[in-house]
Amino acid sequence: MIVMGIETSCDETSAAILKNGKILSNSIFSQIAIHKIYGGVVPEIAAREHMSKIPFVVAESMKNAGVSFEDIDGFAVTYGPGLAGSLIVGVSYAKALALSNNKKFIGINHLEAHLLTPFLEYQDFDFPFIGIVVSGGHTNIYLAKSFGNYKLVGSTRDDAAGEAFDKIAKMLGLPYPGGPELSKAAKQGVEGKIVFPQAVLKDHSMDFSFSGLKTAVLQFVQKNKDKIDAGEITVGDIAAAAQKAIVRALVNKLKKVQAANKITRIAVTGGVAANTMLKNEIVKMAEERNIKAFVPSPILCTDNAGMIAYVGWRYLKEGKGSAYDIEAEPALKL
Ligand code: KG4
Ligand code: ZN
Repeated sequence: MIVMGIETSCDETSAAILKNGKILSNSIFSQIAIHKIYGGVVPEIAAREHMSKIPFVVAESMKNAGVSFEDIDGFAVTYGPGLAGSLIVGVSYAKALALSNNKKFIGINHLEAHLLTPFLEYQDFDFPFIGIVVSGGHTNIYLAKSFGNYKLVGSTRDDAAGEAFDKIAKMLGLPYPGGPELSKAAKQGVEGKIVFPQAVLKDHSMDFSFSGLKTAVLQFVQKNKDKIDAGEITVGDIAAAAQKAIVRALVNKLKKVQAANKITRIAVTGGVAANTMLKNEIVKMAEERNIKAFVPSPILCTDNAGMIAYVGWRYLKEGKGSAYDIEAEPALKL
């Protein structure tokens, strides 16, 4: 079975071709250079960019995979969560392709696609697993028991981890997207010179909170303006401390969830999984506990249509699909 995946939920226009669970092509047009000028994603511009780029991205994915519309059995598209205008472009385009070619059609939850990406890269990956989706919009920990059976055991009460990276980077004068920039800056800093406090949630839940850290960094920058100007404290020092605080929060929660559930596979996905410190800490944790960590390559962790095609393929081969009247759902949950 050959499936085309389409992803337009945020600022990446992407189309992929997947044959029997293996990626043949994964074309991604990133809008980062456009949104960088504004310091963040501008929804209206993102939607317009998706509209102008999607025909080319789709054509490129087919050319790279060497397939024609006749070869494709079905079309899978992200229908949420994400930016409304951006989602509508992908959903409409995929519907039109499926209808006009008389092929199968299915809407995919972006979070389920992130969660299952390790299947694209690891032969030995399987259910059950603990999966954390850490992106610009989500910080969700799931117990993934079997395909389609996921239990959300923790999420953020305010900012997502990626959002915290982005906002703190902005405060430090680093360009968008802040995550990779902050982690680059952190390499130049002295780790441990500054320590930011960790959020303690009253009810011992598995939830996260990153807004306190954001405030702590802002207050620190304001209070230490003279030392920063004099070069006694560098942006790198602050970035190292902020990164450490975010990673520590993520890893500590994962340790608790793992101890409570005894599941021996941990999957880290979403854009923040590209963070080297996070990856190293999770691998270390897995070694200490004699369990296995799965952190897919950055290209599969950040938004891409390969992951959408994969989940689409799993549903379509079970005979499932969506009606043509499904609509974009910006606040779709998993
Ligand atoms: O999954 P993704 O591509 O898009 C969403 O669905 O949100 O994730 C993007 C997020 C951004 O917040 C970005 O700053 C963050 O992932 N990110 C990183 C790194 N690379 C991307 N955060 C920390 N370190 C990185 N190396
Ligand atoms: Zn995403």
